[in-house]
Amino acid sequence: MPEMPEAGGAPRRIDELPTPALLVDVDRLEANLRTMAERCARLGVSLRPHVKTHKCVEIAERQRALGPPEPSTGRDGGAGITVSTPEEARLFADHGFEDITWAFPVIPGRLDEAVAIAERATLRLVIDSPEALAAVAATGHPFHVWLKVDCGYHRAGVDPEGQVALELARALAGSERLIFDGILSHSGHAYGARSRDEAARIAEQERAVMVALAERLRGAGIAVPGVSVGSTPAMAAVRRLDGVTEARPGNYAYYDFTQVTIGSCTPRDCALTVLSTVVSHQPGAGHAVCDAGALALSKDPGPTRDEQGRPTTWGEIYEDYEAGTLHPDLRLASLSQEHGVLSAPAPVGARLRILPNHSCLTAACFDRVHAVSGDRVVGVWTVHRGR
Ligand SMILES: Cc1ncc(COP(=O)(O)O)c(C=O)c1O
Repeated sequence: MPEMPEAGGAPRRIDELPTPALLVDVDRLEANLRTMAERCARLGVSLRPHVKTHKCVEIAERQRALGPPEPSTGRDGGAGITVSTPEEARLFADHGFEDITWAFPVIPGRLDEAVAIAERATLRLVIDSPEALAAVAATGHPFHVWLKVDCGYHRAGVDPEGQVALELARALAGSERLIFDGILSHSGHAYGARSRDEAARIAEQERAVMVALAERLRGAGIAVPGVSVGSTPAMAAVRRLDGVTEARPGNYAYYDFTQVTIGSCTPRDCALTVLSTVVSHQPGAGHAVCDAGALALSKDPGPTRDEQGRPTTWGEIYEDYEAGTLHPDLRLASLSQEHGVLSAPAPVGARLRILPNHSCLTAACFDRVHAVSGDRVVGVWTVHRGR
């Protein structure tokens, strides 16, 4: 029987926590944050972490503390943070983060919120169309604006060789009110890499595309102050970043099974797990059921496929979390809303630590994350899930 928490007290050990529960191992988290900060310093770029991965003030504060001192105040400040929603921007501004990039194509109907935030923090916006530029200009606010560039991911961003890139950059740089921050890309296609070398090639492709565009714009008389790149697989593998000024990885704080398969990290680096209990197993059945379904893990199929093209796992199970070993034949074979179907029998009552396919989506399934060190619970942090 697990020990019960003291009456009225918060759980102090992992085995006292009700499940499903989200856990972050603070020792691994801090090591991941430090390693990326050191890598960026070595590569000569500022680190502007994407906080959408964790949506936690406590983690963003740790990321900020690793940044170089701000020249004006001498306070630890780094290069600011990256967010994906106006609500994240508002929340982090409320907690004293003064330099925030909303790295999502602006949502015209939410620019009034952006203006309110920009009155108390530097809020940098991202555009990739004349319509978005017109909407930002129409606010009358002297926003900092990045031009989003498609570096090969083909999701959003202007064609780096096209005319629109030149026209938008010229309009931004020539604007009387807006401040042109430079060009920004996200190498999301590095998630398709199946090795660190492949991810390194994509990182170099992103760098080359962005530096070539910066040179083209400068050749046309347009000053390009910043070149901002990044995704976790690219930043875990990248070898050089000449010509780039900042990087915006997010997932590296936690890592996950997808990053393990790419080679960005090993299971010993993964900081985020879902604690779950086996709740059903029938005699003779080849499977069991646990209490972590799609609403605890998200339904990200991950990168691995069987011969029929079906996902091979919806979540891996640690055999030994501290040693970083994954169970060879127990994993999540399918997910319903609250049920997780395990690929092999397991005893009812057993507690599992699940390594999710995609930690950012998993973290956003929970209102709070339990900070743990070894088997101790050392804090409970709010996951600010608002949009
Ligand atoms: C614009 C942008 N920048 C940076 C990131 C961070 O990428 P990752 O989580 O792979 O580090 C993302 C993630 O989706 C993004 O959309």
